[in-house]
Amino acid sequence: MNDKLLRLKKNSILRNMCAETTFLSDQLIQPIFISEKVNDKEPIPGLGDNYVLNLNNAIVQIEKDLKNNCRNFLLFLIPAKKNEYDFDLSFHSKAISQIKKNFNDEIFLWADVCLCSLTTHGHCCVFDTKQRIDNDKSLQALSKIAITYADAGIDGVAPSDMMDGRTKAIRSSLDNKNYNLIPIMSYSSKFASNFYGPFRDAADSAPSFGNRKHYQLDYRNKNDALRASRRCAQEGADLLMVKPGLYSLDLLESIKKQTGLMVGAYQVSGEYAGITLSAEKKLLNLNDALYESWHVMKRAGAQFIITYGARKSKELGFSVQ
Ligand code: PBG
Repeated sequence: MNDKLLRLKKNSILRNMCAETTFLSDQLIQPIFISEKVNDKEPIPGLGDNYVLNLNNAIVQIEKDLKNNCRNFLLFLIPAKKNEYDFDLSFHSKAISQIKKNFNDEIFLWADVCLCSLTTHGHCCVFDTKQRIDNDKSLQALSKIAITYADAGIDGVAPSDMMDGRTKAIRSSLDNKNYNLIPIMSYSSKFASNFYGPFRDAADSAPSFGNRKHYQLDYRNKNDALRASRRCAQEGADLLMVKPGLYSLDLLESIKKQTGLMVGAYQVSGEYAGITLSAEKKLLNLNDALYESWHVMKRAGAQFIITYGARKSKELGFSVQ
């Protein structure tokens, strides 16, 4: 019998004609770390050309990224002062409003909504006096962050804390303030993963005791992960997400089917570092490996991808339209 699989691989024209998975640069989201404590910029080990920036440098970086077809950003804001509950969000307001003032609707600006960069203990929640998670107080704090972002002009919010009921609380707080058109991209199936290491250094958000297994998902459990995404959908999330992305490929199609919503994948810092560090050791080619990893997530069902390499989209041949 003739081998039909070989016949359709003759050259790139035919291979492109047959490519099932293609996407636009706007389907890649670039994280940006901005710290109130950084004077200039600090490298993030393992994350290549990603730095922790001060606000001015972040604006310069976004300007550069825009020229490279990258215009969809996810902000992580790191304030100088930490607290237990009464968080000072003035740096957050300033950063968002200045960026939006500079770029208006040339960019789409998401911001991570979480407490781990704000709390003295580095956990994503508020604790009661007995060191138990105070879910209600956590929701109040998260809602306040979302409103602050909205007041400053954010385009969309991305809650990553994994508290119970956060999507509902944030949605109703936003709606009460007439921010009913601000979308929520929820980290809906987020595991307590070992692959967030480089991020936690950058965001100064490593827990000072224990770990996040009390609130993030157990990576042994698929049903819980599906349930978490279903719940976020019921609570009003507009977009869902799996994280770590490459290690959650098995969930994407099921989440889509069960919720009817679009689901993205977050190629997290540890996954990204695995590729960049291998490339530095000349074990693989960085751009080729990134290109493959993104297509694999797309093939598995990801509508959009959050990746530290989004700013390479032009270099890798993705077009805006
Ligand atoms: C905040 C948050 C984390 C990441 C995104 N938002 C860290 C964590 O949950 O510990 C990880 C992203 C990455 O590793 O690239 N809660």
